[in-house]
Amino acid sequence: MTTEMSSTEDIIGRKDVDDLEAILSVVGTEEPDGRHVVHSEYDSIFTWDYEKGARPKLHKLYEKAKNAQWNGETDLPWETDVDQEKLVVEAAAAQGGHAVGFDITGTPLEKWSEKEWVAFGVESQNWTLSQFLHGEQGALICTAKIVESVPWIDAKYYASTQVMDEARHVEVFAKYLDEKLSGHYAVNAHLRMLLDDIIADSRWDMTYLGMQIMIEGLALAAFGFMHSMTPDPLLKQLLRYVMADEARHVAFGVLSLQEYYADLSAAELRERQEFAFEAAVRMRDRFLQQEVWDRMGVDTKAILPVVLSAPDRTQFQALLFSKIVPNCRKLGLLDAADGWLRTKFTELGVIEFESAVDTSEEYDAMAAVPPTQRELV
Ligand SMILES: [Fe+2]
Ligand SMILES: [Fe+2]
Repeated sequence: MTTEMSSTEDIIGRKDVDDLEAILSVVGTEEPDGRHVVHSEYDSIFTWDYEKGARPKLHKLYEKAKNAQWNGETDLPWETDVDQEKLVVEAAAAQGGHAVGFDITGTPLEKWSEKEWVAFGVESQNWTLSQFLHGEQGALICTAKIVESVPWIDAKYYASTQVMDEARHVEVFAKYLDEKLSGHYAVNAHLRMLLDDIIADSRWDMTYLGMQIMIEGLALAAFGFMHSMTPDPLLKQLLRYVMADEARHVAFGVLSLQEYYADLSAAELRERQEFAFEAAVRMRDRFLQQEVWDRMGVDTKAILPVVLSAPDRTQFQALLFSKIVPNCRKLGLLDAADGWLRTKFTELGVIEFESAVDTSEEYDAMAAVPPTQRELV
């Protein structure tokens, strides 16, 4: 193998992926002027080849996307009353209690009453939806960049519909947080590092890999998980629509990169593998939701080892990667460079879904028809 090898430390800034101290030392802050600036230099590419449908699969996706637009203001039941505390209690009851599967003996949580558990559930939801919101803005920015930088007209067309989708996602998550929940969180530091790296990279295919394959692949699984768990009909419907869009977005990434990766060298593919690994670690780190523990006044270093060793934890983590891993396989990223990424994903404990259906095959099945368009079909 002649490829230039990067060490784990080069890629993620620490030697041991599970070094909790290092993970927790990265703390998110919000700039006082309310703006986060990422410098980015890249080529904006005009194409004079306007032949529509030269890439039939992207063309099909574009035509579908035009008919799948929905209106965040009018297609969702915003009149729904959301009692956040009541929903937390209901969700916990459905699982048989608040800390099922955790051994909290000897931790600060041992003394928690119902009141603290409900407060924690509320904060956890505020945090989760806040991170979805920030991730959606990242998708909006990344996809606008793809419109400019991708060289193919069918991809520019498709990406422009995704820009509209992402605007709508930012809009509905912001509205849900403002009108139905009870607080915001700043962007998680690990998520922000990943977004910054994706946006700062000058290569158009890295935007796709970081956003469409990794972040949106994880979002698709996370939204699906929340969709199945939430008792709130408004959030359920909101997530259902967003997931239908996200499935197309991930398919867009797979279909575009499949063509592009076919011509890359082993060394170039190895760089993509390393980027996918970095993204996977950042996203895993962000799910520790350290800011929630901080807000609850619990020492993160005392509680996170307990959370991480819970029996369901590995299962949950693998589930979050259930879309990413088959899509990486489809792109040839698992097996390139002597299976380097397969080894890394195995070490992270997320390899088990590698034979699941990839998203370029399943986006049609996830389509949703908004109520205002139902009479049209
Ligand atoms: Fe989105
Ligand atoms: Fe998306």
